Amino acid sequence: MVVKKPRIVIIGAGMAGLTAANKLHSVGASKELFEVCVVEGGNRIGGRINTSEFGGDRVEMGATWIHGIRGSPIHKIAQQIHALESDQPWECMDGNENMATTIAEGGFVLNPSVVDPITKLFNNLMDHVQGKILTTKTKGDCGNLSIGSFLRRGLDAYWGSTKAEEELEGFGKWSSKSLDEAIFAMHENTQRTNTSAADLFNLDFSAESEYQMFPGDETTIAKGYLSIIESLASVLPPGLVQLGRKVTRIEWQPESNEPMNMENGTCSRPVKLHFCDGSIVSADHVIVTVSLGVLKASIRDDDSGMLMFHPPLPSFKAEAISRLGFGVVNKLFMQLSSPHERRGEHEQSKGFPFLQMVFHSPHSELRHKKIPWWMRRIATLSPIYNNSSVLLSWFAGEEALALESLKDEEIIKGVSDTISCFLFHPLELCNGNVSSEKHSNEYKVKFSEVLKTQWGTDPLFLGSYSHVAIGSSGDDLDTLAEPLPKFSSSNYPSASPPLQILFAGEATHRTYYSTTHGAYFSGLREATRLLQHYSLC
Ligand SMILES: Cc1cc2nc3c(=O)[nH]c(=O)nc-3n(C[C@H](O)[C@H](O)[C@H](O)COP(=O)(O)OP(=O)(O)OC[C@H]3O[C@@H](n4cnc5c(N)ncnc54)[C@H](O)[C@@H]3O)c2cc1C
Ligand SMILES: *[C@@H]1O[C@H](CO)[C@@H](O)[C@H](O)[C@H]1NC(C)=O
Ligand SMILES: *[C@@H]1O[C@H](CO)[C@@H](O)[C@H](O)[C@H]1NC(C)=O
Ligand SMILES: *[C@@H]1O[C@H](CO)[C@@H](O)[C@H](O)[C@H]1NC(C)=O
Ligand SMILES: *[C@@H]1O[C@H](CO)[C@@H](O)[C@H](O)[C@H]1NC(C)=O
Ligand SMILES: *[C@@H]1O[C@H](CO)[C@@H](O)[C@H](O)[C@H]1NC(C)=O
Ligand SMILES: *[C@@H]1O[C@H](CO)[C@@H](O)[C@H](O)[C@H]1NC(C)=O
Ligand SMILES: *[C@@H]1O[C@H](CO)[C@@H](O)[C@H](O)[C@H]1NC(C)=O
Repeated sequence: MVVKKPRIVIIGAGMAGLTAANKLHSVGASKELFEVCVVEGGNRIGGRINTSEFGGDRVEMGATWIHGIRGSPIHKIAQQIHALESDQPWECMDGNENMATTIAEGGFVLNPSVVDPITKLFNNLMDHVQGKILTTKTKGDCGNLSIGSFLRRGLDAYWGSTKAEEELEGFGKWSSKSLDEAIFAMHENTQRTNTSAADLFNLDFSAESEYQMFPGDETTIAKGYLSIIESLASVLPPGLVQLGRKVTRIEWQPESNEPMNMENGTCSRPVKLHFCDGSIVSADHVIVTVSLGVLKASIRDDDSGMLMFHPPLPSFKAEAISRLGFGVVNKLFMQLSSPHERRGEHEQSKGFPFLQMVFHSPHSELRHKKIPWWMRRIATLSPIYNNSSVLLSWFAGEEALALESLKDEEIIKGVSDTISCFLFHPLELCNGNVSSEKHSNEYKVKFSEVLKTQWGTDPLFLGSYSHVAIGSSGDDLDTLAEPLPKFSSSNYPSASPPLQILFAGEATHRTYYSTTHGAYFSGLREATRLLQHYSLC
């Protein structure tokens, strides 16, 4: 009998998969204790990290921010490899919200005295949500409470305590109340992109207080987020990471008690992976790091799943997968075709402003017809650094999905029409009532090129990041992290679970889900689980 080294296959070369590979390799594989390989369905490493270039600037198609630098392992790596400085311009977002210009639909520039009280109210409510402020009221009755309804209750309470509705001078038909509401909605829209929840009424209130952020500044990575990925991969020997290896089927053995089956006198590995090219690889342990979107597709029995488990995932696992939320968030980059010149009253500085956009509510009759529906829930439109000619907006939910299928020309038209209604206020312009095309063109911002992400329809992702939806809870994130077959001391008298299928990835981390550091910690966790299994740490 040939004694084989245990074989560990990691599915996915994103942050979680490469962190696990890095850890396993540095402890075990270098001493030749086991075989490790990473199989990646795409033709590049990084997964939801994809640093790219646009208009001569370095941009991020996926992960963008380090959410708090103190204690962040990502920030630590970035420092070690000097990735926080660069000679090439990047998406540093230095023109921040503090110098934002807030404009209401129709071109009404809003003073801080109008915007700030609502911003303060919103931030205060979010502090409650995140548990920074604890009250008995918010601790108690929040069984099925959503973030959306909590926020709206807060806005109603605010109105209840302040002055009644009043007409505003010089703001077109905006009333004070409709303006308050629209500013509030703008902040809600930022929250939609931050959480990936298409609808905040579907975002669980209680779970949000478990979500942790690192303290300190938030920052982007000058040399690109991909430099972190490259650093993790750099210690791995050539061939360990295999690209273009999409797994279509994972066969496992729920009834198996032994880490290795003895069949016909030879060791046979309990898990079999089928690849899109028809090849099969057997393994002792598989770490699955595919997105929650891919897992959701795998449990739908419509046979469209790119990845199937056989036998199917047990119900406790499948139910957690279906309860948790996985939304679509996309970024849109637009290249201004000529140096933008500010016109009109708000000509304070050169360059395109950090624009916060306040739209009329969905039921308002004052909505300008030229603004397409998919633009109406963006919160900001701004250059990726002070002087950049590249503008960026974030989209969530339906709007993000719609963006994926639009043609570049449609996007350019929709965005420039929208900008016209905000920066160059003539009302007639927004309603399409202009005497000549020439006149209209004078007020157009022109774009030469756009670059958009398509995370929702890409079969290797099927969305952007996870959130705890109503009906779900932090327990589901923990359930997602549990290895299979499910361990219980009665079916495993040896008290050593076989660890056939392990799960890592952003959506398996109870407090850091949706982030790169969540993915990082999950990869470490599963590598450590295996090392402990073999008493290597
Ligand atoms: C637009 C956007 C903005 C973001 N912004 C931030 C941010 O600012 N800060 C932050 O911390 N996080 C951000 N995130 C989230 C962050 O990118 C992810 O949480 C993290 O990168 C996920 O890593 P992962 O390893 O869990 O999954 P992934 O990166 O998805 O890795 C999984 C890998 O599995 C591969 N795969 C899928 N199916 C198969 C298959 N059948 N066979 C083989 N391989 C397969 C995929 O190709 C992929 O490479 C953002 C994400 C997006 C999309
Ligand atoms: C990654 O970025 C490149 C552009 O540099 C793009 O062509 C590719 O589609 C992107 N992949 C994903 C998954 O976003
Ligand atoms: C939450 O909603 C579910 C289904 O909608 C319901 O069965 C349950 O009783 C609700 N729980 C609370 C605490 O309201
Ligand atoms: C959303 O994320 C950005 C960037 O991380 C952060 O600055 C902002 O405060 C967040 N907004 C909300 C409403 O959570
Ligand atoms: C073991 O032997 C049986 C009977 O000879 C055969 O059907 C089976 O395929 C063998 N299994 C393996 C894994 O070789
Ligand atoms: C961009 O502008 C802000 C505010 O004026 C300033 O703090 C920052 O240093 C500027 N960044 C660059 C790169 O000029
Ligand atoms: C920003 O733009 C101004 C005017 O267009 C220019 O003078 C200045 O050099 C630019 N600054 C940077 C950092 O590119
Ligand atoms: C269009 O503009 C003309 C001239 O200013 C005006 O008479 C007409 O009422 C406008 N039509 C609409 C639909 O606003």
